Amino acid sequence: MEIKSAEFVISSQSVSKCPDTQLPEYAFIGRSNVGKSSLINMLTGIKKLAMTSSKPGKTLLINHFLVNGKWFLVDLPGYGYARIGKSVREKLEKMIQGYVLKRESLTNLFVLIDSRLEPQQIDLEFLEFLGANGVPFSIVFTKTDKLSYSKLSENLTKYRDKLFEQWEELPPLFISSAETRVGRDELLSYIGNINQTL
Ligand code: GTP
Ligand code: MG
Repeated sequence: MEIKSAEFVISSQSVSKCPDTQLPEYAFIGRSNVGKSSLINMLTGIKKLAMTSSKPGKTLLINHFLVNGKWFLVDLPGYGYARIGKSVREKLEKMIQGYVLKRESLTNLFVLIDSRLEPQQIDLEFLEFLGANGVPFSIVFTKTDKLSYSKLSENLTKYRDKLFEQWEELPPLFISSAETRVGRDELLSYIGNINQTL
């Protein structure tokens, strides 16, 4: 799928304030700093569309970006950033939960996982929560430019094995790098194919 246009629409504090529209949307979630905003910039090809930072806790609202005038990419705050303070963290968790559970036009949630790390409890629990609530999701392993091919395949095998302890069937899995643009074609085709079925 070709990206002809991508534009920022609005930042919202809660799901009830999100745009009143039926257009399909694809949202990005994962631990703070995993690369959600960078992946949106990589997919759209617009470097500073979503704001990124080397420090965790950059995205703090629900951000809608309209693509080709027909569907949305949605950048969400990360979870699991301990140093942000308890009350802010709880507010963000509520924002994320509200969006994920109540947003009717949410078509697919991409859960981003840092490809360099061992499976993390917080991510496995979040996936469990999505499964229990019937939220459609896929997994994207990020920052694959930061490790060797052999280490990446080792980590992916480990992750698959871990997921099979929890699930009988696995969701679609993607690898990505915002630096080398690995995964861009696959992710955009995946979104394009789903859009065609709607
Ligand atoms: P929050 O909004 O704080 O939850 O973070 P985020 O998940 O949106 O992460 P963000 O896109 O801001 O990226 C965090 C840091 O990781 C930035 O310094 C990015 O440049 C870096 N980064 C993101 N993706 C990649 C990648 O694929 N490769 C490399 N090498 N760095 C990346
Ligand atoms: Mg962000």
